Amino acid sequence: MSPRLPAPPVPDQLKSAPKRPGEGEAPKKPVDHGIHAGTSAVDWIDERTSLSGGLRWMMFRKVPKGTNWFYTLGSATMFAFLSQAVTGVFLAMYYTPSATQAYESTRYITNEAFLGEFVRGMHKWGSTVMVILVFLHMARTFFFGAYKYPRELNWVIGVVLLILTMAMSFTGYLLPFDQRSYWATIVGVNINGTGPIVGPYLSDFLRAGPEFGATTLSRFYSIHMLLLPGAVAAMMGAHLYLVARLGTTAPPWMKAEQSDELTTDEV
Ligand code: HEM
Repeated sequence: MSPRLPAPPVPDQLKSAPKRPGEGEAPKKPVDHGIHAGTSAVDWIDERTSLSGGLRWMMFRKVPKGTNWFYTLGSATMFAFLSQAVTGVFLAMYYTPSATQAYESTRYITNEAFLGEFVRGMHKWGSTVMVILVFLHMARTFFFGAYKYPRELNWVIGVVLLILTMAMSFTGYLLPFDQRSYWATIVGVNINGTGPIVGPYLSDFLRAGPEFGATTLSRFYSIHMLLLPGAVAAMMGAHLYLVARLGTTAPPWMKAEQSDELTTDEV
């Protein structure tokens, strides 16, 4: 009997096509589709926008050794701002910025609107919390020397954010239009007027004229809920971009590790 010859290799074209994912398996239950729906929606958006690259760049940064809880004060300030934005939107649904109706609409929010007292309380106390947090965050960056090269510009942006935060508290204080907020704001605007060179122009701008009048309230309201939050959001974007770009500063008590290649003691 002649020996059997080895079989020639099967050309690729004749091999059966590889199985597609899921082929030959039991059909998926609707619940499986439900579980993966979120992932595929996110994938769908990401495939068309590539946003995940930017997010990863922002969120998964290396942080220096010794990073501690004090580094969370900036993010805490940001969340205080976001809470102010959300509660402010709900307050604006009921508030009327008119000299004759502002007080009454604020009273309505506190005493009658559903959860009004809670939302107003969140906004009022939230503003104090944000001011305290911004100062604590500034103190952290100052004492850790984070204002030095190459982060000077971020410090300057921070100063602008500090002024905007204070201005937001100041302009919000008038809005309930009760005796206290009315007279306290007159004092505040007069203090602004004593500033050198720009002071008188600034107080005229805030009052919307030489006298405190009905238009002053509308002006404060528009500055408080449109101009300042927009400016804060833009500045915060620039601030966070620079934080991600430059990284954060190591605590001053951490010593830089010296690489062996850089030591020159064998001369
Ligand atoms: C609305 C106000 C502010 C927000 C939301 C904010 C947010 C942040 C965040 C999230 C960080 C990174 C994490 C951290 O170090 O805490 C940061 C870093 C920084 N912030 Fe602010 N910030 C604000 C105001 C300020 C102010 C008032 C200053 C100073 C005048 C400032 C100066 C800096 C500096 C220099 C860094 C870099 C820190 C480092 O390199 O370690 N920021 N900020």
